[in-house]
Amino acid sequence: MKTIGIIGAGQMGSGIAHVIALAGYRVRLSDLSADRLAEAVAAIDKNMSRQVSKEKITQAAKDAAIALISTDVSYDAFGDCDLVIEAATENEAVKREIFKTLVPKVKPDTILATNTSSISITRLAASTDRPGKFIGMHFMNPVPVMQLIELIRGIATDEDTFSKVRDLSIALGKTVAVSEDFPAFIVNRILLPMINEAIYTLYEGVGSVTAIDTAMKLGANHPMGPLELADFIGLDTCLSIMQVLHDGLSDSKYRPCPLLVKYVEAGWLGRKSGRGFYDYR
Ligand code: CAA
Repeated sequence: MKTIGIIGAGQMGSGIAHVIALAGYRVRLSDLSADRLAEAVAAIDKNMSRQVSKEKITQAAKDAAIALISTDVSYDAFGDCDLVIEAATENEAVKREIFKTLVPKVKPDTILATNTSSISITRLAASTDRPGKFIGMHFMNPVPVMQLIELIRGIATDEDTFSKVRDLSIALGKTVAVSEDFPAFIVNRILLPMINEAIYTLYEGVGSVTAIDTAMKLGANHPMGPLELADFIGLDTCLSIMQVLHDGLSDSKYRPCPLLVKYVEAGWLGRKSGRGFYDYR
């Protein structure tokens, strides 16, 4: 692989662009607005500068990586991509629409991957012309720091696609965990019910925001408390993952906490909106 397209320049898309460019691949990054793309490149630049100042990478490696990233609001430059990774919002209709627009712009043998954190790979693959060349490639946030990539085969994913994407994941310096195509895969099947339970713990008045986060940080050695982590992931993403678990597994134990629903309805989405369980303004 030489050239990799990334759709979505939010937290995940920009983090994915960061690690892929640093590994020496050409990156074509696309999002709906030029402003958003400029913000993403500025964030990548800042995060790479932090790595330079901590002597994790050299200035020359940073400069080379930044030079490998190009941006565009369309997919017109995606014709030479060997792989395209979709990292748009966690909404199945949005993702389907993206693949519909993307397919005519790429080569017949381009592999299509989705960074979905919960939605069925088989169903998304079926909305394209190439279910055999479609795979789930789920990065963790913050992408430059987290070691894991979950790989998920859809029912039709062929072995060549799987092995190429596994080899790329290893070339990015990541460790792969393979998950079957079940709602929310492995990490979020376990992590999100824990976060949802932390929100119930707040909702029922068992503890305050700081008590809950301190309890889990110091009592279970988690790097972030569950409410701080929810704000970091984005409360809208947390809610959509819980809805996918609830609908897909038909079990009331995955019922999204009403307080989570209310926060999302209020536009309190966590760090990205300036307010969630904490105030970032
Ligand atoms: N780019 C590059 N480097 C970054 C970075 C970024 N975006 N964010 C943090 N870092 C680096 C820092 O430079 C620092 O590097 P050194 O170790 O060399 O000093 C290191 O990461 C730690 O960062 P900080 O010192 O700023 O802060 P910290 O020690 O509090 O760690 C954290 C921050 C890594 C985010 C840590 O709190 C953590 O691991 N939190 C949990 C994250 C987690 O659980 N992620 C998974 C979320 S779930 C998910 O992603 C799946 C999903 O689909 C929802």
